[in-house]
Amino acid sequence: MNHTVKQILMVLTIAGVGMLFLTAGINAAEESGMPDVMTMKNENAFPQHRMGIVEFSHKAHCEDYGLTCGECHHDENGQPLNDLAAGDPVQGCLECHEKTGRPRRDQSMSPEEWQAEQLKYYYGAIHENCMGCHKEKGAGPTRCTECHPRPETQ
Ligand code: HEC
Ligand code: HEC
Ligand code: HEC
Ligand code: HEC
Repeated sequence: MNHTVKQILMVLTIAGVGMLFLTAGINAAEESGMPDVMTMKNENAFPQHRMGIVEFSHKAHCEDYGLTCGECHHDENGQPLNDLAAGDPVQGCLECHEKTGRPRRDQSMSPEEWQAEQLKYYYGAIHENCMGCHKEKGAGPTRCTECHPRPETQ
């Protein structure tokens, strides 16, 4: 083998080994099926984000804060999915809380109707879930800028 061919083979081998490590890494993340920190930027719900993008520590919420899956994930009847396991398929909140954008309060709505109206929206479901628990437990952020880092200018 001449020198150049040897060099090319060497480069290919190094690249190949690198690819193996890369694929193994990706598979490990997929197999555990437990999303770590999620960048909450749902562009189907909000074509434009006016607030800073929320970084949600999904894994820490499950593993460090002692919460069960069913405190956030539920079925089509709203019943908690407590037997959910890492790797199971999970429906996005928007699939059921399917209205996009922000709810608007109509003066004629009773508090109950307003509550129900908000829950039809991804916006309302997410805020009630996150902030509701933080308020209830007296732990976790409840102020806008504690979750939305720096308001983005349009
Ligand atoms: C504190 C709330 C909370 C807890 C507890 C929680 N999750 Fe989630 N999970 C979420 C939210 C919010 C999403 C994003 C949903 C969306 O995009 O609409 C999500 C998404 C997921 C996804 C999909 C990720 C993706 O990228 O599509 C999986 C899988 C998942 N969760 C599994 C679990 C399992 C298993 C448990 C229990 C061990 C669990 N979750 C506990 C809030 C939670
Ligand atoms: C398969 C459909 C479905 C999915 C997916 C879904 N929900 Fe729901 N959700 C419901 C139903 C049904 C109810 C009960 C509605 C009612 O009480 O009027 C409900 C109720 C709620 C409530 C009010 C009751 C409570 O538990 O506090 C919140 C908050 C909520 N969902 C947030 C979420 C979030 C956050 C996600 C995503 C992690 C999500 N939902 C995913 C169907 C769904
Ligand atoms: C069922 C209860 C519960 C729900 C639902 C919940 N959290 Fe939390 N969260 C906590 C608790 C408890 C802490 C405080 C942990 C500590 O300080 O020890 C916390 C802490 C946090 C923190 C600060 C620490 C960190 O890990 O970054 C952020 C940010 C946060 N939550 C965002 C969210 C968002 C976004 C959602 C909704 C998608 C959410 N949480 C839903 C219970 C909850
Ligand atoms: C516990 C964390 C948390 C707190 C506190 C919080 N939010 Fe959010 N907010 C979220 C999450 C998560 C989303 C969903 C973003 C996505 O998936 O695209 C969201 C979405 C939004 C959106 C739509 C997206 C955008 O950027 O335009 C607006 C507007 C918003 N929040 C305003 C507020 C305001 C105003 C407050 C204070 C009253 C607040 N939020 C408090 C977590 C939080």
